[in-house]
Amino acid sequence: MRLAGILGWGYHVPDHVLTNHDLAQMVDTSDDWIIARTGIRERRIAATTEATSDLATRAAEMALAQAQIAPSDIDLIIVATVTPDMAFPSTACLVQSNIGAFNAAAFDLSAACSGFIYGLKLAQSLVATGAIDNCLLIGAETLSRIVDFMDRSTCVLFGDGAGAVVIGPSQQHTLQTIIVGADGSGGHILRQPAGGSRNPATQETVALRQHFIHMDGQEVFKFAVSKVPEAAEGLLAKIGLQVEDIDWFIPHQANKRIIDAVIKRLGLSPQQTIVNLHKYGNVSNASIPIALAEAAAAGVFQSGERILLAGFGGGLTWGTGLLQW
Ligand code: ACO
Repeated sequence: MRLAGILGWGYHVPDHVLTNHDLAQMVDTSDDWIIARTGIRERRIAATTEATSDLATRAAEMALAQAQIAPSDIDLIIVATVTPDMAFPSTACLVQSNIGAFNAAAFDLSAACSGFIYGLKLAQSLVATGAIDNCLLIGAETLSRIVDFMDRSTCVLFGDGAGAVVIGPSQQHTLQTIIVGADGSGGHILRQPAGGSRNPATQETVALRQHFIHMDGQEVFKFAVSKVPEAAEGLLAKIGLQVEDIDWFIPHQANKRIIDAVIKRLGLSPQQTIVNLHKYGNVSNASIPIALAEAAAAGVFQSGERILLAGFGGGLTWGTGLLQW
C-alpha cells in the first residue's frame, strides 16, 4: 500500500461580506447575541451570478497550481456538497469541464458537513491501493441559497465558500487513519425537507418554506459535543496515540461553543485549535478544507506535526482523521 498525502491546497470565498449588523436589519437578532451564542461575526455570500461549481472551480485551480499538477493528471474529482448547482449533472462534472480535467471521473458526495472527511477516506483508499494516482477533493457550498433569511435561528449560522485539496502518492502531508460514521435515526434533526423525491417542489412546499434548512439546533449541539470527542478519542486509541501527541486540531466550524466544549473534553488547547468561523460562519463541507488551506498557506504547520480533523453534520454523520504534515 502506498502512502497518500495532500499535494496542494486552495480555497475561495465570495467577495460579499454579510455582517451580524446586516442580519440585525433583516431579522430580530443582534451582533451581541450572534457572537455570544455562535462566535460568528460575518459570513461570505455568493453573488447572484455565482453557483457552487464557480466557487469550487476557483478553489480547485488554486490547489492544482500549488500542487503543480496539470488538470489532465487528475483521475478523480469529488465534490462534497449539500448545495450542488443542480441535482444532475453533478457539480464535480461541472468543475471537470471548467478546469479541463478530461481524464477524470467525477461525482458528488453527500454526507452533509462530514462530506470532506468522507472524501478524504475515499481518496486515501483509492490512492493507497493504486486504483488512482491523483484525486481532486473539493468541499464547496452556497448555503445562502438554502438558508431562510426569515428564520433567525438558522440564518445567522451559515455562509458560502469552497476549499480544495489534491491527494496523491506522497511521503509528505500524509493521510493517516480516518474514521467515518453515521446514525440515520437522527436524520430529522437537520434537513432540507422538500425538493427531493419524498416532497417534490410544489407551490405548497414553497409556501411552507420547506426548501430551506430546517434544524433542531439544540439536538445538533448535543450530538456534536458528545460524538466529536468520542470519535476523536476512538481514533487516537485505535492508533495508540495520546492527545498530547496532537499538534493541531481543525474542527468543523459550526459554532464556537461547540468547539470550546469539544476541546475541553479532549484536553486540547485553544492555541492549537484552528478557528475561522468568526469570518466565514458554518460553510458545511467547505469549512474544514478552507480552514486547512488558510492555515497551510499561512505556514502554520511544521513538517512532521500531527493535525487532527473532526467533522459532524446532517445524516447524522461524523468523521475524524489524522494528517501528518
Ligand atoms: N437572535 C436572537 N435570538 C435568537 C436567535 C437569534 N439569531 N436565534 C434564536 N434566538 C432565541 C430563541 O428564539 C430563544 O428564545 P426564547 O428563549 O424566547 O424561546 C433563545 O434565543 C434561545 O434559543 P436556543 O435555540 O435555546 O439557543 P441556543 O443557545 O441553543 O443557540 C444555536 C442556538 C446557536 C442554533 C445552537 O443551538 C447551535 O449552535 N446549535 C448547533 C447548530 C449547528 O451546529 N448546526 C449545524 C451543524 S451541522 C452542519 O454544519 C450543517
